[in-house]
Amino acid sequence: MTQRVFCVVGAKGGVGATTLATKLVQRLPAHGERLIVDADLAGKRNLAVWYNLTEDLDLSRTVGAAAVAKVKDGFLVMELARTYEDGLIQTSSSLLRTLGSLSQHALVVVDAPQPFAATVRPFVTRAAKIIVVSEPSRLGIGAARALLEAMGRAGIASSRIAFLLSDARGIGTIERTDIERTLHIRVSAELPHERDHRFESTFREFVEALAGAPGSES
Ligand SMILES: Nc1ncnc2c1ncn2[C@@H]1O[C@H](COP(=O)(O)OP(=O)(O)OP(=O)(O)O)[C@@H](O)[C@H]1O
Ligand SMILES: [Mg+2]
Repeated sequence: MTQRVFCVVGAKGGVGATTLATKLVQRLPAHGERLIVDADLAGKRNLAVWYNLTEDLDLSRTVGAAAVAKVKDGFLVMELARTYEDGLIQTSSSLLRTLGSLSQHALVVVDAPQPFAATVRPFVTRAAKIIVVSEPSRLGIGAARALLEAMGRAGIASSRIAFLLSDARGIGTIERTDIERTLHIRVSAELPHERDHRFESTFREFVEALAGAPGSES
């Protein structure tokens, strides 16, 4: 399968992971369908609300299966969990079937705050890049350290991780070089508030770097 899968993982809550996923699915190059997956198993329904698809997703849902609805031709939204309890009974077989029904060239962007959940693992193993997002604060770096260490223990090579600092709230107090030294990882980009004039050029460069990333190792 040559589908391009990108997982976005917020290391700390509220750092802009879901927002970034919606931007990436629009901007990364795709030669087939674009699929964005809400793999937030807490049932917050962020993408259903964002794309105004709550009813369509409810109608397409069957027990234990991931729901899929269409934003427009060639642009789909998958939702793994409508409720918190849904997140506990999901299996990965239905989402693999959905991936199998997409074209070979589809782009898949996954909002995956719980990357170690069994349901989410098929996306993580297929990902060309796992984008870890955090903020340059003490809490943000502490949370990123825990996540990156867990990824290391899970055997995810650091070459498959793009580490992104997002400082939409402008509370960042820690320097990039200190963060790189502490976490032993290169910062791929520092994303400012989206109204900051540097946002567009920073985001464009980040997208270009992701687009050039080699394919999945699985
Ligand atoms: N670059 C940005 N500039 C300005 N505001 C942003 C930016 N990124 C995210 N936000 C805002 O920050 C808030 C949190 O964003 P978002 O829900 O995407 O974060 P998250 O990491 O997915 O949170 P959660 O932990 O709840 O999943 C939202 O109100 C969103 O509009
Ligand atoms: Mg989110």
